Amino acid sequence: MAREQTRYVCQQCGAVHAKWAGRCDDCGGWNTLAEEAARLGPGLRGGKSRALAFVGLEGGSEANPRRVSGLAEFDRVSGGGLVPGSALLVGGDPGIGKSTLLLQVAAALAQGKGGTALDGVYISGEESLDQIRLRAQRLGIMAAPVRLAAATGVRDIAAALDRPDAPGLVVIDSIQTMYLDTLDSAPGTVGQVRASAQELIRIAKARGFTVMLVGHVTKDGLIAGPRVLEHMVDTVLYFEGERGHQFRILRAVKNRFGPTDEIGVFAMTDAGLAEVPNPSALFLGERRTPVSGAAVFAGIEGTRPMLVEVQALVAPSSYGTPRRAVVGWDGNRLAMLLAVLEARCGVAVGAKDVYLNVAGGLRIAEPAADLAVAAALVSALTFTPVPAETVIFGEIGLSGEIRPVGQPEPRLKEAAKLGFASAWVPPRPAAGKAAAGEHGIAVHELGHLSELVARFEDGARPRMQGPDRRAQGGGRP
Ligand code: TYD
Ligand code: MG
Repeated sequence: MAREQTRYVCQQCGAVHAKWAGRCDDCGGWNTLAEEAARLGPGLRGGKSRALAFVGLEGGSEANPRRVSGLAEFDRVSGGGLVPGSALLVGGDPGIGKSTLLLQVAAALAQGKGGTALDGVYISGEESLDQIRLRAQRLGIMAAPVRLAAATGVRDIAAALDRPDAPGLVVIDSIQTMYLDTLDSAPGTVGQVRASAQELIRIAKARGFTVMLVGHVTKDGLIAGPRVLEHMVDTVLYFEGERGHQFRILRAVKNRFGPTDEIGVFAMTDAGLAEVPNPSALFLGERRTPVSGAAVFAGIEGTRPMLVEVQALVAPSSYGTPRRAVVGWDGNRLAMLLAVLEARCGVAVGAKDVYLNVAGGLRIAEPAADLAVAAALVSALTFTPVPAETVIFGEIGLSGEIRPVGQPEPRLKEAAKLGFASAWVPPRPAAGKAAAGEHGIAVHELGHLSELVARFEDGARPRMQGPDRRAQGGGRP
């Protein structure tokens, strides 16, 4: 006989508890336990079942044609277009431009900008139809045959979509506003979000359409509600950017059908999101006169080289504990670099405040940025600009050695394309050197961080007489 038993499942980490508690012992989440009925049945013996038919890896259905939207920045991040029957989650802070992006993508697909047209529906639980139409007007896409609906009930949505003539693309804006009337909890709760997503994804797989879910992000940067949502979908994209900046970056964090290191760069204009096909030029801004504390990093985002300016400011601290503020880079990595500079090169930053900023609102995760950050720091400390038209990349080890990084050639090529004349790079194997000359860039190999520091020392001396001389504290030997 089946026996009803209650158990409490953490909605965040999935841990099962016998008793309710305010805090999950496993993940530390507060108020995340929810009651679930656990049916302890007679086991799996007996009852009806169907034998599974196993098949080989080869063969199978014809290749799924991807639906290309024609918005190149979006297509690249999604791994080359949307896959039929797949589910995408687009996360991001409120107001960052998720609704705008998805409306533009739906319109581009409906208009067949990327080849074949794909009929789409856009279901909003947040905005009224008039608001969406107004937005479409602003974006200049009123003519696109996208069908709109304002709805939040998953039952109604399922009735409209779970049929043979289902559309090719369904946008749900946002999953936090959807609710299933079979659950007691309110919309936006973990249970509702999870169950609604599950139902919508099930229909998408059964009917072969692509479903794109908008997900809000909580204060700690996770898609609100559940990490489980990220497990349920095939692709997770984050749309990010600084509020004050114009630039928006679409980043793949999970993709079952493509790479996850690609980014797409957009600019928010008064006519919606514009693609930025050449982000380097944009992230470098109008820099031309060399100033101290700025260095250009030749980075790689996914398959694309990208030049970014790293800015550092070192100022005397007015507090006992100096401040270390970082925007766009890892704070721990900065602490490590400062320690290496001090211990291996005798450059004492010690009691000074250090501010580090990656221009343009980009976030760099590559270790290859170490050398550029170090150059910006030493440049700021010595009031000596990095030589004009110089790009920098290289990873720094704890002993101060500069290590090779991946794909040096595309980095140099991009720098040459944008008119840079020299590069500070890690030592490269002899084989790579011949190719480098072709870019028309003077390549300087640096083996140790002290070689980088030495490059600033000569030029630095006269300027060290300036007002900051005392503050400088004679840190270097
Ligand atoms: P929205 O797509 O509504 O953000 P989300 O769905 O992520 O909450 O974008 C809202 C912001 O974008 C809003 O602050 C205004 C700005 N915006 C423009 O600057 N230009 C435009 O053409 C549009 C449609 C929005
Ligand atoms: Mg929105």
